[in-house]
Amino acid sequence: MSTGIQTVGVAGSGTMGAGIAIVAIRAGFKTIVYDSREEALSRARKQTEGFFAKSVERKKLAPEQVPKILANLSATTDIEAMAACDIVIEAVFEDLKVKHDLLARLGQICPPRTLFASNTSTLSITEIAAGSNRDDRCVGMHFCLPAQLMKLVEMSPGLRTSEETFKTAWEFCKAMGQVPVKTKDSPGFILNYFLVPFNNDAIRLVEAGVATPSDIDRAVKSGLGYPMGPLELLDLVGLDTHLLVSEALYASTHEPRAAVPALVKRMIAAGHLGRKTGQGFYAYQGNAMFGG
Ligand SMILES: NC(=O)c1ccc[n+]([C@@H]2O[C@H](COP(=O)([O-])OP(=O)(O)OC[C@H]3O[C@@H](n4cnc5c(N)ncnc54)[C@H](O)[C@@H]3O)[C@@H](O)[C@H]2O)c1
Repeated sequence: MSTGIQTVGVAGSGTMGAGIAIVAIRAGFKTIVYDSREEALSRARKQTEGFFAKSVERKKLAPEQVPKILANLSATTDIEAMAACDIVIEAVFEDLKVKHDLLARLGQICPPRTLFASNTSTLSITEIAAGSNRDDRCVGMHFCLPAQLMKLVEMSPGLRTSEETFKTAWEFCKAMGQVPVKTKDSPGFILNYFLVPFNNDAIRLVEAGVATPSDIDRAVKSGLGYPMGPLELLDLVGLDTHLLVSEALYASTHEPRAAVPALVKRMIAAGHLGRKTGQGFYAYQGNAMFGG
């Protein structure tokens, strides 16, 4: 099925937006990334170039393919550029008001054909879509971290999403080389419903001094066969994002294990957000990880 999607917009160029843009340009889509902060765009550009340089090094890509792929990418701080997109995937902060305001503005800027997709981890697609001026053409597309390496996308229709929108977004997801799985518009969808409480449990073990981050991660990897431990993963996710995601999940489920441990707020106050600031449960220098 042809989706009619040629130009992709990504709104928010942080941890997730940067990876989603890599997925889109690698699959050959013209992609415009929008962020309100110039530094987020330049950081993502560097990360993108680094990713494709590594792909060449690992012989997964011929060197001559890289300029062609990178030519698909443009970046801007001007939201009006989203008017050229057939679909906009939003990956801004996990905050209902921020997402709501963004989609309301995009609803004014984009032509009626443009579909909106949200990468929210825990918020309601139906609520995000309300006020977008096209809630029948909004859909949940939850990529996993890091999006450029993980194939899964949880796809959720909101209460007012049309069947045609869902079908188009599903086919578009496959055209990007991703693996879609359908879920209801439900807090945390599949993965974060159990992963967020699980990660909070791991933080509570650190808080209580039961074991060090590296011993907890080692136990989870060698005992449960997970490729990554919960504290390494949290450093990759970002403690700031984890706080927002936990709060949103707790607000909608009242699951006590979704409540964020106090240590997270102290780490955020100290600037220990994880890999993005060079310090989280572990310390980082470039890609090297220390301590824990
Ligand atoms: N980090 C993860 O592991 C992960 C995984 C899957 C989904 N998500 C979801 O993806 C979304 C983004 O998370 P993230 O970790 O990439 O966050 P992030 O903080 O790393 O990046 C968010 C980016 O959005 C930009 N932004 C915020 N408000 C904006 C606005 N109104 N207009 C334009 N740009 C704006 C910020 O400048 C920032 O660069 C959230 O909904 C989160 O729940 C995160």
